[in-house]
Amino acid sequence: MKTVLFLSPGYPSEMPHFVRGLAEVGARVVGVGDQPEGLLPELTRRSLERYVRVRTLWDEEGVIGELRRVLGDSVVDRVECLWEPGMILAARLREALGAPGLTVAQTIPFRNKEEMKRALDAAGIRTPRHLPAKGRAAIWEAAERIGFPLIVKPIAGAGSADTHRIHDRDELVAAIAAVEHLEEVSVEEFVDGEEYTFDTVSIRGVPAYHNVAWYRPRPLVARTNEWISPQVVALRHPDQPALRAGIEMGRRVLAALGFESGFTHMEWYRKADGEVVFGEIGARPPGAHQVDQMNYACDIDVFRGWAEAVCCGRFGETVRRLYNVATVYKRAEGQGRIRRIEGLESFRARHGARVVWENLLPLGSPRRNWKQTLVSDGFVVLRHPDLETTLAIADEFARSVRLHAN
Ligand SMILES: Nc1ncnc2c1ncn2[C@@H]1O[C@H](COP(=O)(O)OP(=O)(O)O)[C@@H](O)[C@H]1O
Ligand SMILES: [Mg+2]
Repeated sequence: MKTVLFLSPGYPSEMPHFVRGLAEVGARVVGVGDQPEGLLPELTRRSLERYVRVRTLWDEEGVIGELRRVLGDSVVDRVECLWEPGMILAARLREALGAPGLTVAQTIPFRNKEEMKRALDAAGIRTPRHLPAKGRAAIWEAAERIGFPLIVKPIAGAGSADTHRIHDRDELVAAIAAVEHLEEVSVEEFVDGEEYTFDTVSIRGVPAYHNVAWYRPRPLVARTNEWISPQVVALRHPDQPALRAGIEMGRRVLAALGFESGFTHMEWYRKADGEVVFGEIGARPPGAHQVDQMNYACDIDVFRGWAEAVCCGRFGETVRRLYNVATVYKRAEGQGRIRRIEGLESFRARHGARVVWENLLPLGSPRRNWKQTLVSDGFVVLRHPDLETTLAIADEFARSVRLHAN
């Protein structure tokens, strides 16, 4: 039986399902976190063999010391962390406990976008032209060299936070002021095009399962326009010719970065002329319930599939690609509490059979800060075998269902 240390088993919200998956494939799961055990989600508590509560997850030396004490010389087969801020800690624990998997040096390119692009450039993979920059003068200089339009973004960002598209000098001045709190940024060529994911569960660097999702619209556009209901659409046919170059590039990225086993989430762009450009990679699953979306596409359990891949080196789920799956995230109009949902009844009457998960905030809930949440004020997940039909229903939901707050 494998012993798996799982960091932060209660947060983010998908973690309980990964822990459950590990328990289902027969692993002994030791949770490590700083939440009190009593506050862990019920599913996590049921699936853990043991929970080690550390003082804080952000003192790496402290966590290593505490775990050494608690674990004695029992063997740890895997150290897993699917939450971005805990990646380096997980790598340090692997090194300290002699567990296989990504080392600290191997993890850094997954956490630092400049390191990532440097490694990919060296492998001949097309990334946006880029320069790292610290401070005003360096950003100006980098911008001069890259040319407009360009992007200024954090070295280790998430969810498009602090990401600016810049067309001219005036916008550059404004962006420089807006990123003053960041120690270092990436200045990049702006790549125009469609944006896709390439998500994998990989075993020894090779995808055993993959998913391609299409962002409608691109995340930066979704994040800068409150009225938009962002959509993520898992495509039923990821192996179609139009996506082949992106998938091929993603496979080369895994090899170039020496990825081992587990989940990866990649983003890539396809320009109007067909050229593909790499965006970024995380050594973790995508958020915002996109793993559930993968499950709905094939009626499988990717949480368990991941667990089996990392514990046993195989992906046992039977992947039959049955549906396109669209998730439409909804932002309320107005401020305060959600008082009224318009158009939902008639949408249900027309398309209820296509909806697999409706998860809008209930009436009376305070609306969320739309810039700080990927799931907005709730979402609907719907599916259909035909892509055009899926998109039409998703667009109808985006247009006709409105949440009103006051
Ligand atoms: N060089 C670029 N060209 C065009 N769009 C970009 C570029 N870099 C980032 N973006 C936009 O900003 C979004 C966020 O950037 P990304 O690098 O994915 O960071 P994160 O998702 O970690 O915040 C992307 O999804 C894309 O829409
Ligand atoms: Mg991104």
